[in-house]
Amino acid sequence: MDRDLHQQSGKTRLTGRSSALRALTLSLCLTTLATPVLSQAILEGERFHPASASNGMVATSHTLATEVALDVLKNGGNAVDAAVTAGFALAVTQPRSGNIGGGGFMLISKGDGSEPEAIDYREKAPSGATETMYQDASGEVVKDRSRFTHLAAGVPGTVAGLALALERHGTLPLKEALAPAIKLAKDGFVVPQRFSEGLEQARERLQRWPATQATFYKEDGSAWQAGERFRQPELAATLQRIADEGVKGFYEGETARLIVEEMERHGGLITSKDLENYQPVIRTPVHGNYRGYDIYSMSPPSSGGTHIVQILNILEGFPITKLGHNSADTIHYMAEAMKLAYADRSEYLGDTDYVDVPLMGLTSKSYATELRQGIKPDKARPASDVRPGQPASYESPETTHFSVVDKWGNAVSNTYTINFSYGSGITVEGAGFLLNNEMDDFSAKPGVPNAYGLIGGAANKVEPGKRMLSSMSPTIVRKDDRNFLVTGSPGGSRIITTTLQVIMNVIDHGMNIQTAVNAPRIHHQWLPDEIRIEQGISTDTVNLLESRGHKVVTNSAMGAIQSIMIGEDGTLYGGADPRRSTSSAMGY
Ligand code: DON
Repeated sequence: MDRDLHQQSGKTRLTGRSSALRALTLSLCLTTLATPVLSQAILEGERFHPASASNGMVATSHTLATEVALDVLKNGGNAVDAAVTAGFALAVTQPRSGNIGGGGFMLISKGDGSEPEAIDYREKAPSGATETMYQDASGEVVKDRSRFTHLAAGVPGTVAGLALALERHGTLPLKEALAPAIKLAKDGFVVPQRFSEGLEQARERLQRWPATQATFYKEDGSAWQAGERFRQPELAATLQRIADEGVKGFYEGETARLIVEEMERHGGLITSKDLENYQPVIRTPVHGNYRGYDIYSMSPPSSGGTHIVQILNILEGFPITKLGHNSADTIHYMAEAMKLAYADRSEYLGDTDYVDVPLMGLTSKSYATELRQGIKPDKARPASDVRPGQPASYESPETTHFSVVDKWGNAVSNTYTINFSYGSGITVEGAGFLLNNEMDDFSAKPGVPNAYGLIGGAANKVEPGKRMLSSMSPTIVRKDDRNFLVTGSPGGSRIITTTLQVIMNVIDHGMNIQTAVNAPRIHHQWLPDEIRIEQGISTDTVNLLESRGHKVVTNSAMGAIQSIMIGEDGTLYGGADPRRSTSSAMGY
């Protein structure tokens, strides 16, 4: 199989002393440049305190993954080594979102100030996919087909993506990055309460599939309880094949055979050719600037970076700091800007390997100025009045994000997913891992919302080999070419707005990273026409928003953002999101 990867010539490795020296020189130079409000916020007593360390920091949604990644850093590995190790470990410890049966995006920004790089390992539609495959004979969308059947699965990208990251920028052999995951799968690990609760909640959906029941539940069908040791021998063997044979150990041979047989037994589309042909892609991240900070985030096939930059551009014209965090004024302007961005998302965003996306236009300051002029200070614009602009040419969801910074100042921001909690719910028999249901992120029919209520059209229609549009937004913010904030979140359509708010909380409101992560969040996605708020926004604020014509609904917790901020003196501050009880940030 030809595994020549795009832009292989740009291969570089993040190691060693020269970058350490550069990072040190840079951080010494920058000591005098940083914004005073930030150091004040970090140093003074706020309500919430980030983890802090000097040499390395890892923030993930599962403590065991944080620990194994931190060990890699302590043993001299770099941020990419640690991130890939965490990615494989999460596939074992957090099967509801950690995965080898899904896909995602990794953003890498080195400590030497060179241009950040994105690795796109999003799933692809199988070659047999068609535009109308989720519609019945009369053209009605059959929702379950793109969510809970073998037709829901895109060709997985995680193994190829993590391996590519390691090959381009790591120092560890793939085998070593897999070793902790294999050990956790083989020897088992003690399950936390959240693991047990997740399996209880998803019981009905998961136990429809005998292989899923056998893999994730006890023999009597009951869920593993907190404190019990859970082992995954089939997954251990699948991971071992990758360790022994590299990516071919997943995309060819025994594992590929098991995936294809699973498809053939149940009318799925993924073929051995689809697996063999899967390639991750090196992409240029979307780049914007907000109040003097450089924002790098994921480019298409994710919509995340585009709309984070677009919304920030619109909001830059309002005095957000002065208006205050989560005040009615600030929330009003944020919601109005979010509406405009999500309307554009529905029209323009898709896989740029298949459609032209007016990226420059959408992320330009002039387009933001034009859009800003339509925002009234005292009145919500009904969603029906908001249409995509003219730029120049509820299911329990789960995805997971992790952020890593090493002692050389290299940063990795990674979000990956199988879409819903436990993806399609379908385990590949004999291989011990869950398949994604990412095909639901395509537009099954123009104007018909997906599971997150997101609407799309021709730009995001199903096509063979195409990547479905995502909202995942791994993001790295830099100040004067130096990595400053590493962040990203799960949350479906709310990923974009969650990530946006942590950036604003730090830049506009001077919060330390833990306070920025913990703060109550809001969300608007154009349709449905409502502001969703978390607990913690006052009734007075809600009343003021309603008096401007907003509909406000209280939502359950939004996102689980795992972030790292780098202080002026190089100190690393980790903020794990308490919205997931297993989240942790640890440094050394
Ligand atoms: O790629 C996307 O935008 C979605 N499949 C992400 C799903 C997700 O974040 C679910 N998690 N909370």
